[in-house]
Amino acid sequence: LMVDGSPNSGRPIPNTFLGAFFEEINHAGAGGLWAELVSNRGRFEGGRGSGSPSSIYPWRVIGNESLISVSTDQTSCFERNKIALRMEVLCNGPKSCPPAGVGVSNPGYWGMNIEKGKKYKLVMYVKVKASGPVDLQVSLTGSVHRVNMVSIISFSAMTDNNFSKWTKVEGILESKATNHNSNLQITTTTRAILWLDQVSLMPLDTYKGHGFRMDLFKMVADLKPKFLRFPGGCFVEGYYLKNGFQWKNTIGAWEQRPGHYGDVWKYWTDDGFGFFEMLQLAEDLGALPIWVFNNGMSVGGEEVNMSALSPFIQDALDGIEFAKGSPSSKWGSVRASMRHPEPFDFRFVAVGNENCFPHHKYFKFYDAIKRAYPEIRIISNCDGSKTPLNHPADLFDFHIYPNNSMDMFSKYSVFDKTSRLGPKVFVSEYAVVKDDARNGTLLAALAEAAFLIGLERNSDIVHMVCYAPLFINKNGRYSWIPDAIAFNSHESYGTPSYWVQQLFSESSGAIYLNSTLQTSSNSIVASAIGYRSSQDSKIYLRVKVVNFGSEIEKLRITINGLSSNVQQSRSTKTVLTSSNKMDENSFSQPNKVVPRKSALENASNNMVVSISPYSVTSFDLLV
Ligand code: AHR
Repeated sequence: LMVDGSPNSGRPIPNTFLGAFFEEINHAGAGGLWAELVSNRGRFEGGRGSGSPSSIYPWRVIGNESLISVSTDQTSCFERNKIALRMEVLCNGPKSCPPAGVGVSNPGYWGMNIEKGKKYKLVMYVKVKASGPVDLQVSLTGSVHRVNMVSIISFSAMTDNNFSKWTKVEGILESKATNHNSNLQITTTTRAILWLDQVSLMPLDTYKGHGFRMDLFKMVADLKPKFLRFPGGCFVEGYYLKNGFQWKNTIGAWEQRPGHYGDVWKYWTDDGFGFFEMLQLAEDLGALPIWVFNNGMSVGGEEVNMSALSPFIQDALDGIEFAKGSPSSKWGSVRASMRHPEPFDFRFVAVGNENCFPHHKYFKFYDAIKRAYPEIRIISNCDGSKTPLNHPADLFDFHIYPNNSMDMFSKYSVFDKTSRLGPKVFVSEYAVVKDDARNGTLLAALAEAAFLIGLERNSDIVHMVCYAPLFINKNGRYSWIPDAIAFNSHESYGTPSYWVQQLFSESSGAIYLNSTLQTSSNSIVASAIGYRSSQDSKIYLRVKVVNFGSEIEKLRITINGLSSNVQQSRSTKTVLTSSNKMDENSFSQPNKVVPRKSALENASNNMVVSISPYSVTSFDLLV
């Protein structure tokens, strides 16, 4: 590999090159990055699905029918969520009630992770009808069946007459023990009728107190994403339009949000992780938000008529105003009331997801947005990689999910012939799927690494790229595999595809260096960049080499034109490989396929290196 390292050679890779894509899929947010522990904190309208009243799923009843009767009614104080949980306690006192009382329990998302010494904020709304004071016990326990029940936290309140109206109960619970599979129980031993609604339990140690689960936030932050695309994906569209992401229903006080059933990935979300929180997440990650808005089309094929498009256009304009408008504007003031008076650094919108739709409709969005916000960059859903788009756009979306890794490997050159005159490319979803990928194999990741090297090479036109999907809660019913980050209530690990992304995290804003690869092997792909390390602020040259074959490859790397020599000290080699190309990571072996870094003993301007079979190697040379 001959690399031209002379000053002023090469060209900058856009600052926005590598980003992340957050979609509410696989419980990525609800039961994932969003740290709320209570599953279905207040929507008793239909529990699991979009059906009719009135399941309390996944809440469960504690106590048999002779002791307690649990149902729902429409007496909630929350206008957009009228159905409350009603429990009629039939037993009274220690003689007829079990010692721990009767009531309801919530299992969280496959168990709540409660850790010793940590604090949790409880909020719940309660109404009580009783002839006297009622004891109310809130506890976190290890077992839902109340066998060997250990209360690892408890909190008690005595209700009085004030509770005849809906009352907000708040408390901080500090855990005495650790249990990764806890349940929240709300119980009493007093005869009464109690109503519950909007019960929340949030760990206090979320990122900056913004509600993001620490370990999962860190895993995304470690990718150094320069943008965050959200909230989907198909989640934006809905299978039916009525179940798409309607951002106005996801802002303001969490208790007031109606929540919605995501009918594509088939689970309910309370929308606590709403539009505002996603903008906040982007800001906390130091990433530019990219909002994919609903453009009036659904996964199931619904498409609003031209005459019905105006509300969708207005919704998009209002959403932009919410994100970046002045605090005195209509929607900017709502953002300000959520304690973010400063506008977000909001620059991009995508007109739908995978909805390349008739141009007369696209124009309506395009014109309205450009008229009100000429600086906003608009992403079209139409593929311009082969033939130029016939409508204006700043970028076009490109999604790619090959079924086998060789196919992805060969997509290394997919943008070589794309017109340089039109909009830039946003590869906003890519991954190998199916048999070669399973839950995330090394082989799939290597093919993706080759693809990313091809994108770097074409980064004059490819300005953005992100993998999809980002997260999976392994306890859930899988909507989509593979994913970049897998987790349960308390553990997480990256798939090989995740680690490949980390190898490209220095590419954003780096200098792409011209290089020529001379090899007889058709399994090798390589690139070279120059970058300033965020760790020691020194300039490094990074050569990445993918070996997609089963043989060791010897490669001479020659760097010409450097004003100084490569320094052996601090030059390193990082290799992602494993003994079997189909290896995956798992909870029991989270570090089976992870990058391994070592000193590069023979680092020089002209060196011969061996590249392991089925590997990607990053040579970081201090210059
Ligand atoms: O990433 C999973 C899904 O794949 C996205 O929701 C959709 O945009 C694509 O079809």
